[in-house]
Amino acid sequence: MRILTGLQPSGQLHIGNYFGAIKPAIDAQGEGDGYYFIADYHAMTTTHNAQALRDNVRGVAIDFLACGFDPSKGVFFKQSAVPEVNELAWILSTVCPMGLLERCHSYKDKVAKGISANHALFAYPALMAADILLYDSNVVPVGEDQKQHLEVTRDLVGKINDQYGEGTLVMPKARIRENVAKVPGLDGEKMSKSYNNTLPIFGDEKPSKKLIMRIETDSTPVEDPKPTEGSIILALYQLFASEPEYQQMFEDYENGGCGYGDFKKRLATAYWDYFAPMRARREELLKNPDEVDAVLANGAQKAREEASIVLDRVRKAVGLS
Ligand code: ADP
Ligand code: TRP
Repeated sequence: MRILTGLQPSGQLHIGNYFGAIKPAIDAQGEGDGYYFIADYHAMTTTHNAQALRDNVRGVAIDFLACGFDPSKGVFFKQSAVPEVNELAWILSTVCPMGLLERCHSYKDKVAKGISANHALFAYPALMAADILLYDSNVVPVGEDQKQHLEVTRDLVGKINDQYGEGTLVMPKARIRENVAKVPGLDGEKMSKSYNNTLPIFGDEKPSKKLIMRIETDSTPVEDPKPTEGSIILALYQLFASEPEYQQMFEDYENGGCGYGDFKKRLATAYWDYFAPMRARREELLKNPDEVDAVLANGAQKAREEASIVLDRVRKAVGLS
């Protein structure tokens, strides 16, 4: 079984990205034959600054490896290291009705946010379909927001196989991460870089802990019981603390006698300790850029070999060779 997923290189990663996307991807390693790539062509639909693109791609590569991705158990590469994906995207575009792309929420949302509607932004789902189909992927773990793009992909497989023969492309399945709880932001809304309410995975110690100390709380006196329902501190603490530690804080909320300052300090410590091993690994990687380059180069080579097999098959089927 081949599992494939793409990560958008979009700046500093936050703990919502970690628990919602990175950790599930790393946990899925070993379940099958894993392909993971950094979607730099996709990032170009919204980023037109060469240095920013380069920096973001490198940053995600380092962070993903630091978070525990094991390159010996899967293939990790940069999307643009396999330019063949563009040829498959073109072939898919030739059977892709305009209406299918016009209906995509992600495109409409981005345009509504003021992102200029260039052709690549519109054609984004066709390239995403090519990402998936170029490697004969079976399972594609994604967030709920990508569900529609997987439906487009499956539609395109149906059209190609109807037109050019069953077996030209492999039909993939989405694995929607429904059971992944939404990580709340520091203001209680969903954590998102667009809401300015994030806690970074790899921020500096003082400013990151300060973000926690500034979480807004009510004015319950220290000695009184505190409401556990809807508590941002408790919800975040549960992600980082052991079960007994979490139970302890929960009881301290219910019993009274501890202030919010104390709870926030416990949260800040648990958060900082949770990422300590990953932070150490990241420091190592930052000192050894060659190691990161080698992982990506090795991944690119494997991905390219696989891609050429699939693309040869497709080229023959459609009459390009
Ligand atoms: P942002 O909302 O900060 O722009 P992205 O849309 O770039 O984040 O999300 C990248 C990945 O991280 C997606 O797979 C998404 O499902 C996941 N993710 C983002 N924020 C959260 C969150 N608060 N809780 C759980 N998962 C999240
Ligand atoms: N569009 C995905 C996102 O925004 C990233 C992505 C690009 C992707 N190509 C993919 C995910 C292929 C899964 C499979 O998160």
